Amino acid sequence: MTNPALYARAIQTAPGGVHSPVRAFTSVGGTPVFVQSAAGARLTDVEGRRYIDFCQSFGPLILGHRDETVRAAVIAAVDDGWSYGACEPYSLELAEWILARVPWVERIRFVSSGTEAVMSALRVARAATGRGRILKFEGCYHGHADNLLVQAGSGLAGPVAASSAGLPADMIASTLVAPLDDESAIDAIFDAHGADIAAVIVEPVPANYGLLPPRRAWLAHLAARARAAGTLLILDEVITGFRSGVRGAADVYGITPDLVCYGKVIGGGFPVGAYAGRADLMRMVAPEGPVYQAGTLSANPVGMRAGLATLQRVEAIDGWAALETRTATFVDALGTRLRAIVPDLIIVRHASIFWLCRTSAPVRQPQRIPSAHAEWYRRFFHAALARGVYLPPSAYEVCFLSIAHDDAVLAEAAEALTAAAGDVG
Ligand SMILES: Cc1ncc(COP(=O)(O)O)c(C=O)c1O
Repeated sequence: MTNPALYARAIQTAPGGVHSPVRAFTSVGGTPVFVQSAAGARLTDVEGRRYIDFCQSFGPLILGHRDETVRAAVIAAVDDGWSYGACEPYSLELAEWILARVPWVERIRFVSSGTEAVMSALRVARAATGRGRILKFEGCYHGHADNLLVQAGSGLAGPVAASSAGLPADMIASTLVAPLDDESAIDAIFDAHGADIAAVIVEPVPANYGLLPPRRAWLAHLAARARAAGTLLILDEVITGFRSGVRGAADVYGITPDLVCYGKVIGGGFPVGAYAGRADLMRMVAPEGPVYQAGTLSANPVGMRAGLATLQRVEAIDGWAALETRTATFVDALGTRLRAIVPDLIIVRHASIFWLCRTSAPVRQPQRIPSAHAEWYRRFFHAALARGVYLPPSAYEVCFLSIAHDDAVLAEAAEALTAAAGDVG
């Protein structure tokens, strides 16, 4: 079995040969790697080549691949049967674990993906406020629900353009889009539409168009304008949740959401998402309230036990602090080495998330990412791959470090990435 042979078969079976677009290597070119297995910080492809993996399934695997404690929890879960469609103690345990640690999570509902979590939180916000519009930010991704697949239209902040085919015009018309990092755009939108906006949704640390850590003052301004307008603040912590600590980026930036959306780490690598927040809002969800939302596989016991095992393990080993230090040390040293070869390169970091960008100054808005970045990254990605490092296959996706990326792995990765930068020039 070779990667190209499998890809030739795959494109005869699935759109673009994949079941989620970035996996197709469209933006970096070439043939996707087909993973045979994974353990710790490494992937092994079907040709037997091994790679240090900084993609980590796009974020869920904070302990790395095939972590022993999570594996044991999953095997025990499977031995108990893997779906009941009935009440069970496992989702209760995970819910109680989170409620005991995150003050703004007074109630939680588990779903099967981040997309579902966001869709449902927005429905609750509309029901609670009796308003129809939502506000999102240019460059933030919140899953593929119709009304969120929009980008800023031309002209003033507010109007939107579809970023996918197949979206009903009336559906996207209720979404407003503002640029990141711009208080005056927030003011203009709230001045014009504040009374109609049910919710503002934001990634507290935008991580889907590169990594664009916000100014604290900007986030605080957003929260204040939303509160003053009676608009609910929804933090999309699908990537950042349980990354920097149990309370996520909300804690790092000192803002309290009304509702919060989770995915990725919360399921330990299984299809789990959640929306959560104020009890008065969450009580609006069926069967307690009038907002309908349901799922055949919601709170699937295998995912619940994998998620709880992951979070308990990270907490038990003080993993968040370890990852913070380890990632900072790695990124600082790597940045220095890479800049000796590529002077206008910075590595942006939040907790154990990092992103390499061809720029000489930090950026906070997608349009400020230099256009040369994508072309450089395409070549760097393949040079890294050839030297045994698997980076996310897009210039705008972020890298993740896991507990399995120990000092030896990181030293090897730094060597390979420095050599790759030299290959690219
Ligand atoms: C911030 C954010 N929200 C929502 C989603 C959607 O989650 P899912 O892919 O689980 O539907 C993603 C996915 O990457 C995300 O990064």
